[in-house]
Amino acid sequence: VEWTDAERNAILALWAKIDVADIGPKALKRLLIVFPWTKRYFTSFGNLSTEVAINSNDKVSAHGKKVLSELDKAVKNMDNIKSVYSQLSVFHSEQLHVDPDNFRLLAECVTVEVGAKFSSAKFPPGFQAAWTKFLDVVVAALRKQYH
Ligand code: HEM
Repeated sequence: VEWTDAERNAILALWAKIDVADIGPKALKRLLIVFPWTKRYFTSFGNLSTEVAINSNDKVSAHGKKVLSELDKAVKNMDNIKSVYSQLSVFHSEQLHVDPDNFRLLAECVTVEVGAKFSSAKFPPGFQAAWTKFLDVVVAALRKQYH
């Protein structure tokens, strides 16, 4: 993947403003509510039966924060994202058996939450384009070890 300086700067600027403890939980909750089949992977998290239950589930919040924090590695290794996530890709494929289409859905939920959080001045179209490309590369890296 090739990054322009503008894309790199946009991703770094945006990442510096993202509070993973805020956006992470919101994005995972949104995934579980909007795409309810994703709940099947989180049976160990307890009650996910309703929107209220999902929104008040501490395990969901903690995991959402963990997942979003993981993106820090990609931000810091923008030229090497595939190798950064090769173990995590194997884990989601071989241990968790997560359908890889779900990675894209979570990325979409993250972007919705980022957009909802920031004004259009902080999240202009150019930033959104760079951010979407960045998440596409993360998603491709997570899909890589599936076969
Ligand atoms: C676990 C990252 C997408 C399901 C994890 C862990 C990380 C992570 C860092 C912890 C790994 C460990 O314990 O060693 C990510 C990233 C994603 C992503 C960066 C995409 C951007 C998904 C999706 C699903 C999913 C879309 C399912 C719909 C799970 C499950 C676990 C897990 C079930 C184990 C949870 C537990 O029992 O603690 N993920 N993940 N992940 N992930 Fe993902």
